Amino acid sequence: MCGIVGYVGSKPALNVVVEGLARLEYRGYDSAGVAVLTDGALMTAKRAGKLVNLRNALDEEPAPEGTVGMGHTRWATHGPPTDRNAHPHVDCTGRIAVVHNGIIENFAALRAELTERGHRLDSDTDTEVVAHLLEEELRDGAGGLAEAVRRVCRRLEGAFTLVVVNADDPDVVVGARRNSPLVVGVGEGENFLASDVAAFIAHTRDAIELGQDQVVELRRDKVTITDFQGRPAEVREYHVDWDVTAAEKGGYDSFMLKEIAEQPRAVADTLLGRIGTDGRLTLDEMRISDEQLREIDKIIIVACGTAYHAGLIAKYAIEHWAGLPCEVELASEFRYRDPILTRTTLVIAISQSGETMDTLMAVRHAREQRARVLGVCNVNGSTLPRECDGVLYTHAGPEVGVAATKTFLTQLVAVYLIALYLAQVRGTKWGDEVFAMVQLLATMPEKVERVLETMEPVRELARSLADERCVLFLGRHVGYPVALEGALKLKELAYMHAEGFAAGELKHGPIALIEEGLPVVVVVPPRARAVLHDKIVSNIQEIRARGARTIVIAEDGDDSVVPFSDTLIRVPAVPTLLQPLVATVPLQVFSCELARAKGHDVDQPRNLAKSVTVE
Ligand code: M6R
Repeated sequence: MCGIVGYVGSKPALNVVVEGLARLEYRGYDSAGVAVLTDGALMTAKRAGKLVNLRNALDEEPAPEGTVGMGHTRWATHGPPTDRNAHPHVDCTGRIAVVHNGIIENFAALRAELTERGHRLDSDTDTEVVAHLLEEELRDGAGGLAEAVRRVCRRLEGAFTLVVVNADDPDVVVGARRNSPLVVGVGEGENFLASDVAAFIAHTRDAIELGQDQVVELRRDKVTITDFQGRPAEVREYHVDWDVTAAEKGGYDSFMLKEIAEQPRAVADTLLGRIGTDGRLTLDEMRISDEQLREIDKIIIVACGTAYHAGLIAKYAIEHWAGLPCEVELASEFRYRDPILTRTTLVIAISQSGETMDTLMAVRHAREQRARVLGVCNVNGSTLPRECDGVLYTHAGPEVGVAATKTFLTQLVAVYLIALYLAQVRGTKWGDEVFAMVQLLATMPEKVERVLETMEPVRELARSLADERCVLFLGRHVGYPVALEGALKLKELAYMHAEGFAAGELKHGPIALIEEGLPVVVVVPPRARAVLHDKIVSNIQEIRARGARTIVIAEDGDDSVVPFSDTLIRVPAVPTLLQPLVATVPLQVFSCELARAKGHDVDQPRNLAKSVTVE
C-alpha cells in the first residue's frame, strides 16, 4: 500500500532509490516517482503506471548526480492513478518534496485553509497538503526540516508515513511514521529509509524499527529519532536474518512461482527451534505466561483475506486439541459489533505483513477491552508484534508476490503450534499425544514437496480452463476454508468469478449455479473421517448428475472418488486437521498457471497491493 524509499550517502541517489522501489513495487504499482537533490536544486520525476514507465522516462534525461533522494510507488487512494497524482508532491516554491503512505483524514479542511491562504494545489491527493504546510512552517522559521515535519505531523489526522526533502537543507532526509511502516537502514557513511527492509537489503542488513509517532532525521553519518514533540525516542535495532537473494526471483519467472516452490523450506523453518528434544513445544516469543494461558476461556481470531482463512482452520485445531471455544472474525468487521471481551479472552491476530490496518485496528480494540492479544506475523519490525502482548513469527522469509502462498502454509503451521501448545499447557491432551502430532507436523515439509513434484497435470488442467468464466470450490470441515482460499487465489490472480462453499450448504442454494460443464473443485476429507468423507462423495455425485465438471482433490489411495472425478488430483494422506497443508498447494498452482495462461502478471494483480495499510 505505497512503498517509500529515502537515501543519504555518497552513491548516486537515483540508482539507489529506483533499485529500492523495484523491490517495493509489490506494495503498489499505480504510479512511481523520485526526487533527488543536486547542487541545491530539487529534481522530481513521476509517471503513472508501473515502475518501468518511470524508468523509461528517466532514461530520456541526463541522470542527476545528487546523493540525497527519495522515491515512491503508489497504491491510489485519493485521486486517480495519473502522472499528476503520482508522488512526490511539491510546495509552491518547488523546493520541498513529500512522499506519503496512508490517508490524511483531515486533508480536506487543511486544503481549504491552504487555498484560502493563497497556496496552489495541483493534485487531487491528500498528500500535497503536507508539502504546503511544510512550506509555511519553514518560512516561519520552524528551525530545520525535522522540526517543521514534527509540527506538521501534530496537525495531521489519520495514517501518514512521510518522507521529505528540502533543497534548502540538502544533506538531510526526514521521515515520520504514524501507522504505516518505516524502517531505517544503517550503513557505512550512508543511511536509508524504507517501508520494508527489502528496499535496502542489498546495502545493509542493520535496521532500526521506527515506532508509532516518531520522526527520523537522516544524515550520512547520523540518525536522530524523536517523537512528534521532539523528545528523544526509544527505538529497536535489529539485524535482518535474510539476504538479498531471498528478495530476488532466483531463476523463476515470477516471485509467486518461487514462493510456491519455497513452501517445504518455509514450513520447516516455522517449526525450527520450537520442538524440544523431550518432544515438548517451546514458543519463546509468546510473552504470555503458561499461567495466563491456563486462565483463557475463549479465543477470538481476527484476520483478513488469506490470513482469515488460516484463522478458520485454526478454529478447528484449537477447539479439537485445546478444547477452547474459538470464534473467527474478519478484522474489518470486528470492532463494529460489540464483541464480548474480558481479561480471560485471548485474541489471536494473524497477519503476514503485520501492517494490515483492519487487523491493527481490531488489535487496538481488543486491547482497549483488556483482552490479551497474540500476533502471528511474518515481518520482523512490523507494527503488529509491537502492539500485541506476544507474537509467533512464521519465518517464511520475504513474500513479494501479492498473492499469499508460503505465508499461508506457515500461518497454518503457526496456529497448529499454538493449538498444540495450549493443549500441552492446559493438559487437554497427553504429552505423548501432543508429541505424536508434532512429529506428524515435522513430516509436512516432505509431504508438501511431494505435492509440488506432481503438479504438471494441474498446470495442464489450468491452461485448459483459461477461457472459463467461473469456477466453484467445495469443501467440508477444514476443507471448507481451503475451498475459500482456492476461490480467493483464482479471483485475485485470474480475475475470474470464483466462489468457495461448504459442500453441505450446496443444497441450500448454490446448487442452482451448477450447469453443464461448470468446473467445480472439490476438496475431499481423508477417509479416516468416514462420515464427512462419504457425505462429500455424495455431494460430488449430486453436482456431477447436474453436469458439473468435477475436479477432485483426494488423498492417495482413496479410490471411492475415481468414478465421479473428471480430473483427480492426489495429495499425500495426512490427518484431517493437517490436510490444508497439502490440499492448498494444488489450488495455488492451479490459479497461478491459469492466470499466466491468461497473460496476467501474477506478482502484481490489478487493483491490489501486498499490504493494505488503509481501512
Ligand atoms: O498481510 P496480511 O496477512 O494481513 O494480509 C491480509 C490480506 O490482505 C492478504 O492475505 C490478501 O488477502 C492476499 N493478497 C491474498 O492472497
